[in-house]
Amino acid sequence: MYKEQIDMARLPQHIAFIMDGNGRWAQARGQQRSYGHFAGADTLEATLRCATKLGIPYVTFYAFSTENWSRPQDEVNTLLDLMLKHLEEKIFMENDVKFLLVGDIENLPQNLRDASERLMEKTKNNKAITMGVAFNYSSRWELAHAAKIIAKEVKEGKMKLEDITAETIDRHLATGIMPNPDLLIRTGGEQRLSNFLMWQLAYAELYFTDTYWPDFNDECLYKAIVDYQSRQRRFGKTGEQVTENK
Ligand code: FPP
Repeated sequence: MYKEQIDMARLPQHIAFIMDGNGRWAQARGQQRSYGHFAGADTLEATLRCATKLGIPYVTFYAFSTENWSRPQDEVNTLLDLMLKHLEEKIFMENDVKFLLVGDIENLPQNLRDASERLMEKTKNNKAITMGVAFNYSSRWELAHAAKIIAKEVKEGKMKLEDITAETIDRHLATGIMPNPDLLIRTGGEQRLSNFLMWQLAYAELYFTDTYWPDFNDECLYKAIVDYQSRQRRFGKTGEQVTENK
């Protein structure tokens, strides 16, 4: 229904997802929260396939924040296991997906860090789509981390203080190789950023839906894209200026 309404010439180039509502989806079915995360991982895969088919070049999924370590240990273990299980080279190679771990990779459990680094290396020339998975990620960590690297480069004389621009910061973020998202989709009814890509989302269109992440399907994605395309992106200009430039 919504798919036919999409203007294929104006697709968002990068869509970021906050996959919220797994726990409530499971609890509504009388199940453990982990059951919702398993279903959520299936939705992630289906969404990736749908985005690839449409021709969206970049997607980023928020899978585990630096604050999520404080969840009950069994839930943390489920999320770590799920992540490890999904870093399966075969699927990425068959679907030509380039993988990028977005987050504090140095402080991941060693097995997850090794698997992520291997997969990034193995898939670095894949072309169909680039998938970022934000894991052990938060914007505040990322900005502090970028500041440290930049300060070190200045201290070592590799960069001049006066040469630091917004573009310098962009390059030093965990999403460095990706353009900033055009569209953020958050499922599960909350309307906040939760420490996710706060710098990168400066000009993104924000789309919130009450649908729990495990129920988010292709039709939901098409609907979000149609909504995105109905908005006028002004990037600080006036509506008249934007219309004249078209
Ligand atoms: C938020 O829902 C979801 C998460 C914290 C985890 C998202 C993870 C997945 C969808 C699976 C990850 C899979 C891979 C391959 C990395 P919530 O638990 O906060 O739900 P609630 O708001 O209903 O409690």
